[in-house]
Amino acid sequence: MNKHWWKESVVYQIYPRSFVDSDGDGIGDIQGILSKLDYLKDLGIDVVWLSPVYTSPNDDNGYDISDYQDIMAEFGTMQDWEQLLAEMHKRGIRLVMDLVVNHTSDEHAWFAESRKSKDNPYRDYYIWRPGLDGKAPTDWRASFGGSAWEYDEATGEYFLHMFSKKQPDLNWENSALRQEIYNMMRFWLDKGIDGFRMDVINMISKKEFLAPYEDFMNGKAENNGYEPNGERVHDFLQEMNREVLSHYDIMTVGECPGVTPEQAQLYTDEDRHELNMIFQFEHMSLDKQKGLRKWDVKPLYLPDLKANLSKWQKQLHNKGWNSLYWNNHDQPRIVSRFGNDREYRVESAKMLATVLHMMQGTPYIYQGEEIGMTNVRYKTIEEYKDIETLNMYKERVFEQKRDPGEVMESIYAKSRDNARTPMQWDNSRHAGFTAGEPWIQVNPNYTDINVAQALKEPDSIFYYYKKLIELRRQYEIIIYGSYELILENHESIFAYIRTMGNQKLLVIANFYQAEAVFTLPKDISFISKELLIGNYHVEEEEIKQFTLRSYESRVYKLDCTVQ
Ligand code: NOJ
Repeated sequence: MNKHWWKESVVYQIYPRSFVDSDGDGIGDIQGILSKLDYLKDLGIDVVWLSPVYTSPNDDNGYDISDYQDIMAEFGTMQDWEQLLAEMHKRGIRLVMDLVVNHTSDEHAWFAESRKSKDNPYRDYYIWRPGLDGKAPTDWRASFGGSAWEYDEATGEYFLHMFSKKQPDLNWENSALRQEIYNMMRFWLDKGIDGFRMDVINMISKKEFLAPYEDFMNGKAENNGYEPNGERVHDFLQEMNREVLSHYDIMTVGECPGVTPEQAQLYTDEDRHELNMIFQFEHMSLDKQKGLRKWDVKPLYLPDLKANLSKWQKQLHNKGWNSLYWNNHDQPRIVSRFGNDREYRVESAKMLATVLHMMQGTPYIYQGEEIGMTNVRYKTIEEYKDIETLNMYKERVFEQKRDPGEVMESIYAKSRDNARTPMQWDNSRHAGFTAGEPWIQVNPNYTDINVAQALKEPDSIFYYYKKLIELRRQYEIIIYGSYELILENHESIFAYIRTMGNQKLLVIANFYQAEAVFTLPKDISFISKELLIGNYHVEEEEIKQFTLRSYESRVYKLDCTVQ
């Protein structure tokens, strides 16, 4: 297996709006991030992935970009950003920028031109279609609710938007558009950034699903359902790689909803020259009812999670590379989701971190995860800010007349705002996030859960994450070892083995509050063992069989004779 720095790194994601506000306007900013770089250095991460900081009307908090080559005024200036890059590099931290090129904002200059007339040079930068019998060209639904098509008066046609109607989709079939994007990427790369996280990059090719209008009219084509991973996506990524990515020493991670491991191999196999790794979402849908939306939750069944993550571990081993994550700005907090955010918050947060960080792949830590931040329960819908959450509430409560109490429960479980509450720095007003009024309220538990507190306690979640990162530096087996699930059918223990040469790592985790008895499979023998990390004090020496306490996890290094 080829060795690369991005396989050996730990990434920390910053959602700038909610990280630190330096100027009291209630919105996080770049100078705020600068003030916390030493904190990140102390945690030990190698790379920062910065969610979008480009100019944006903020319909979707920066994922709707109106100028790719400028910084959002609320966040600061280009000079601030350059200072950020320089200060990160000074500390040995790399910077990965968000690349949002499936769509722009409808306030982008290209779209302003495109909507003007059918013969405008920018018309074809976006996806325009005439209506079909007075209705939208296809019945595709937008991710944030409603039709994916918006009628535009000026030219009497519809444009496609897979997200909000202020996020029109770009037409990647247009080669001039692709060149503009590549130039924009070079602009940032030449400033010295270390890579891109590519927003919904597996959605950029959609032509084959958009049958020509005439085919609908003469009955040759039916409305195809929308599918990601369109037939040209790999051509586009290979072209991007050839023209741009391959000229720099960078890392790339593509956000790819709806991919299988087989498809992930196509994106990440090094010989194919596309991306280094992708974010897949299968494990994020295991607590959703089949066929329904993410809001329709069901309890996690642990063997499903074990089977799923293990499948990804096995199938990408030597054939691609995994990204490892529990959290990001779109997901609820993992300790509230798969852990216990009440009496076992600390134990379960550490346990979840252990299970993830000992796997093969590049781990991502989302801001606040390292101190065990939890989901929030705002009393009223008015306190929520996320467009997806608000649209869903409108649809279910006002259109479908569902019980508002039930809808609020699904928001408590799944809203993206769970991840977007301000970072909890200390127990002062607004958790030290801002001296003004925060754009979204802080989680009231900041008085107990905050960075200042975590730094004071040697047993805190923060120091546990720090140790996990150090172990990755110390033991190559964590990065390059093979993976084997053990106790496959056990309903409360997640355990696996990593192997490299005559070394093994034995990772054991009890996912629940009830105690669980661990029994080492008979075929695993070893000469000596060493406990590398655990979330409880461990006395007993015997590991052939022992009882795991509530949410207990341990990692042993086993030295074995080569078989
Ligand atoms: C995925 C991003 O992570 C999410 O926050 C955003 O709303 C959509 N893509 C659209 O850009």
